[in-house]
Amino acid sequence: MSGTELNAVARAMVAPGRGILAADESTPTIKKRFDTIATESTEENRRSYREMLFTTPGAADYISGVILFDETLRQSTSDGTPFPVFLTERDIIPGIKVDKGAKALAGFPREKVTEGLDGLRERLAEYRELGARFAKWRAVIDIDADIPSDFCIGANAHALARYAALCQEAGIVPIVEPEVLMDGAHDIERCAVVTARTLERTFAELVDHRVALDGIVLKPNMVISGMNCDRQASVEEVAQATVECLTANVPAQVPGIAFLSGGQSDVDATAHLNAMNRLGPHPWELSFSYGRALQAAALGAWSGRSENYSAGQSAFALRARLNGLARTGRYEASMEFVAA
Ligand code: 13P
Repeated sequence: MSGTELNAVARAMVAPGRGILAADESTPTIKKRFDTIATESTEENRRSYREMLFTTPGAADYISGVILFDETLRQSTSDGTPFPVFLTERDIIPGIKVDKGAKALAGFPREKVTEGLDGLRERLAEYRELGARFAKWRAVIDIDADIPSDFCIGANAHALARYAALCQEAGIVPIVEPEVLMDGAHDIERCAVVTARTLERTFAELVDHRVALDGIVLKPNMVISGMNCDRQASVEEVAQATVECLTANVPAQVPGIAFLSGGQSDVDATAHLNAMNRLGPHPWELSFSYGRALQAAALGAWSGRSENYSAGQSAFALRARLNGLARTGRYEASMEFVAA
């Protein structure tokens, strides 16, 4: 695939008014989600839950792409259409999580590095055959009094860049996801400093690895207070701090930034995105690539019961629509109540 084609896919992933559904929970993670609704994590339950999301009427109005897990990329709708085919036919781009998870970084207690580079070239070729047009790799940076170390940030940035280069070689757009976690009692200022360090290093590695910046999508955390911080920053503060940090560290060639939700409530994630877009115009699209913030309400409404299928779809459609509005700053908190 040429650079122009990579750029076209990246731009389609962050098309105005739309965003990405992250439905790429690994088998252990989806089990954790199903445990919260007392539903067994069987292969069929996982398939059926994902089918409920993907077949939601009108989903394509607000959803540009879906990140799948390996198992899901190989599954089909109940009438036998492979999920990647079903999505592509509806103008939703299928993507694939390709990292093998964040593992303990030897010599650096409590820090992690993401694995999965071995054999990645071959896996990417197969995923492209199966219909994937973009991929995702998540690096995890934790904040505590004495971490993250520069070494941990560098090791993760290096792996992200090697992954991104392999994706582009295979004709797949890499979602580059360096996630600074919101776990902990740190304040928003500390999150801003660590996020800036992480982004700066990540882009330096991407450039060194000759990754075309107009053929990636960046998936960062927002600059936000730690979950256990005594002073929780307001929506306006989060929007200001995040836009400031991105403006200083993300080159304008990057077509789009699609945030993760990272443990924010679904309403907060929508409100933050909306406030950031109201501060625009920005050099890049500011979009969403939410997992929990798009799925929490749908998961609860479904609760593993086929009779709740349409309630689950309505909950998902509502969340997708409100985030679609937040893409252009047209979301209002009052819409939560009118719509509910
Ligand atoms: P959350 O929005 O739930 O953080 O998930 C997004 C994601 O894909 C994390 O890698």
